[in-house]
Amino acid sequence: MDIDKITEAVRLIRKSKYMIAFTGAGVSVESGIPPFRGSGGLWNTTHPIFLEIEYFHKKPLQAWKKIKEIFYDKLVDAEPNIAHLVLARMEKRGFLESVITQNIDHLHQKAGNKYVYELHGTYRRLVCTECNSEYDMSFADLNFLPPTCYICKGILKPDIVFFNEPIPAFAKKRSFEEAEKADLILIIGTHAEVLPAAEIPKIAKNTGAKIIEINIKPSYFTHSITDIFIQAKATEAMEEIGKQLYL
Ligand code: APR
Repeated sequence: MDIDKITEAVRLIRKSKYMIAFTGAGVSVESGIPPFRGSGGLWNTTHPIFLEIEYFHKKPLQAWKKIKEIFYDKLVDAEPNIAHLVLARMEKRGFLESVITQNIDHLHQKAGNKYVYELHGTYRRLVCTECNSEYDMSFADLNFLPPTCYICKGILKPDIVFFNEPIPAFAKKRSFEEAEKADLILIIGTHAEVLPAAEIPKIAKNTGAKIIEINIKPSYFTHSITDIFIQAKATEAMEEIGKQLYL
């Protein structure tokens, strides 16, 4: 890992007036949650059809069996790693305004970040496909699939963004607003392939923000909008940033 680049990044962090973070699956890999693409990526071995909204409505039981295996059985016990924890300390110390995440794993909140915008929703909430009632996942017994609504017996779906579904309006609006206000954005662990999420760092760049990117290999951002590219694992780079900020 190039320590000089970390020192340069910390200089920008100290100087920034409105810094935000933009995270993808890579920030949670060292919490034991596999990414979707790249080495160990979920899509290398599993067809994403179970996350297509049309398939879910047609075959809710089959979809839920896969969703429970891939997400619920793994995420419930996942713990934030040092990258999540340093981001939480950065918010607490006033360096960081908010985290915009593509992840559904709730680990930023578990680490202590208060201002988290979940572009792809969260596995922790279920919503009824008939009456739109919302439940915390603790109210559903996922040993009996598909879970159904207490109010209308409709089928419950995880409140995550399926393929061919829109981004949640609140998260989308706030994320675009944050990107426009930011003078510095710290991108951690994203392939930068999925839209409209990947638009957000570009908006920040177009409104004058500097871009720091942490990834184990270049992404679609690296040779287009990134100013400082730190090729490292999220935990390694964030631990060093935390040290240099005395967090
Ligand atoms: N540290 C830093 N970066 C890492 C690490 C690590 N330890 N491990 C992997 N990465 C990087 C990979 O190099 C890759 O660029 O994290 C990125 C993971 O890419 P994806 O799996 O595509 O994750 P993401 O970009 O968040 O995907 C966006 O795609 O399938 C949809 O809804 C899903 O939210 C997801 C969206």
